[in-house]
Amino acid sequence: MATLSLPRRPGLPALCAAVLLLPWPASAEVTFTKDIAPLLQNHCERCHRPGSIAPMSLVTYEEVRPYARAIRVRTSLRDKPGVMPPWMLEKNVGIQGFQDDPSLSDAQIAMIAEWVDNGAPRGNPDDMPPPLTWRGPNEWAIGEPDLIVKSKPFSMEAEAPDWWGSFDNVLTGLTEDRYVAAYEFHEVNDARGKEAEVTGGAAFTAALGVIHHGTVTALGPDGRPEPGGCCPTHEVGRNADWFDPRAGKPLRAGSSLAFNSMHLHANGRDTTGHIEIGFKFHPRGYVPAYKATGVMVATNHHLIDIPAGAKNLRVTGTGVLRENTKLTVFEPHMHAAGVRFCLEAIYGTTTETLNCAGYDHSWVLAYTYQPDTAPLLPKGTILRVVGYYDNTPANKNVVDPRNWQGGGHRSVDNMNLILGQGIAMTDAEFEAAVAERRGKLGVTGRQVVIGCPTCGVPPAPPRQQSRLAE
Ligand code: HEC
Repeated sequence: MATLSLPRRPGLPALCAAVLLLPWPASAEVTFTKDIAPLLQNHCERCHRPGSIAPMSLVTYEEVRPYARAIRVRTSLRDKPGVMPPWMLEKNVGIQGFQDDPSLSDAQIAMIAEWVDNGAPRGNPDDMPPPLTWRGPNEWAIGEPDLIVKSKPFSMEAEAPDWWGSFDNVLTGLTEDRYVAAYEFHEVNDARGKEAEVTGGAAFTAALGVIHHGTVTALGPDGRPEPGGCCPTHEVGRNADWFDPRAGKPLRAGSSLAFNSMHLHANGRDTTGHIEIGFKFHPRGYVPAYKATGVMVATNHHLIDIPAGAKNLRVTGTGVLRENTKLTVFEPHMHAAGVRFCLEAIYGTTTETLNCAGYDHSWVLAYTYQPDTAPLLPKGTILRVVGYYDNTPANKNVVDPRNWQGGGHRSVDNMNLILGQGIAMTDAEFEAAVAERRGKLGVTGRQVVIGCPTCGVPPAPPRQQSRLAE
């Protein structure tokens, strides 16, 4: 008896304990206080709480109950656009193992469905987990930054044409050289009311934000772009970046940030705001082992041809890696009509799917591999990007599906590319990285390791000689 762990149930008299040994299906009932509230705290509250970016708070039972059905629908979308929490990586193909993956497991999704189908019961109030404390609306996914750099303010009228341009450079204020471990881009604005300035985290959505995308470049003390320096392009709904721990990005004493490719769009409200960039640094004295690079493979804009009403239209493009590359981030980039994206690697005659993800142009996400799952691709690997487009009313991001769409820079035009990040390696560095991976995975013989074509292949046997010896 003592070892039996029994679920708590409201109003159960202690005298009935003996009866609990019998099967008792009701004891497994999924309730808000016991099962759903902790799940919402871990996976949803960061955005769904008072003052944060989501349209409603999902903290108390009273707040959650009216959305029970919508929660069931959104969480069960898995890798399709609209899924909550926003994370569309396909789990049944390609490499698994990403950093800061907020997605729900199959068991959690099934639990939510069961709870809703059962009438979304509240359960025993005593089961309610203690409330989480949040620092404020401006929560950083990377944790409290070591340095926050603010842009000059910007304004956008409620209804105005799109604006492209640069903001003034801003000094970082650093007085010593540091290396960036993580980076996060926040748009902070007053779109919800002039009295309280509210903010979107990294995943600020188009409904409140006016920043469509922003490219921030780290400049050295001489005002020139820092080689290998920060920062990935920010997009609507994009999440934070953790760089490979062995390839931190330099930010020097006397450095500044250039906000050099900014695109603003009106959001229906007169909006004033600024950008806050949060940096997490490696400890003082850290020296990177590798230099980070960008990995971009794109379909030529002229080859993108999406007829009105097209559904499930597939567009491909290829590029060759000229250097041995560890791909550290899988970041699909499409525009409004895009709904799914895959990245394939071709080694000689073998084609492998590295990853696929659903795509939603309101949630442009970057998927950062864990250091030990990041693909190790030998030079000469061909990367193929495969985008799937839906130009029908079923895709809510498409403004007018009667229009043909070609390639181009506006959101109503299209792109098909990977905005990946990576590390370029010499042959010796690459072989060492492959050997290390092989050891970590315990690979000893021939074995397929997705994303690491030389991991499972021992050095080629001297075929000619062995035949002579037979
Ligand atoms: C990164 C921030 C973020 C996280 C994490 C997140 N949401 Fe959301 N959620 C939003 C935003 C913003 C919207 C409104 C825009 C949209 O629908 O995409 C939204 C919309 C929704 C809606 C639709 C509301 C409606 O009016 O029908 C539901 C339901 C929902 N979220 C549930 C959840 C649940 C449940 C979780 C956790 C399992 C979650 N969300 C996690 C930001 C988030």
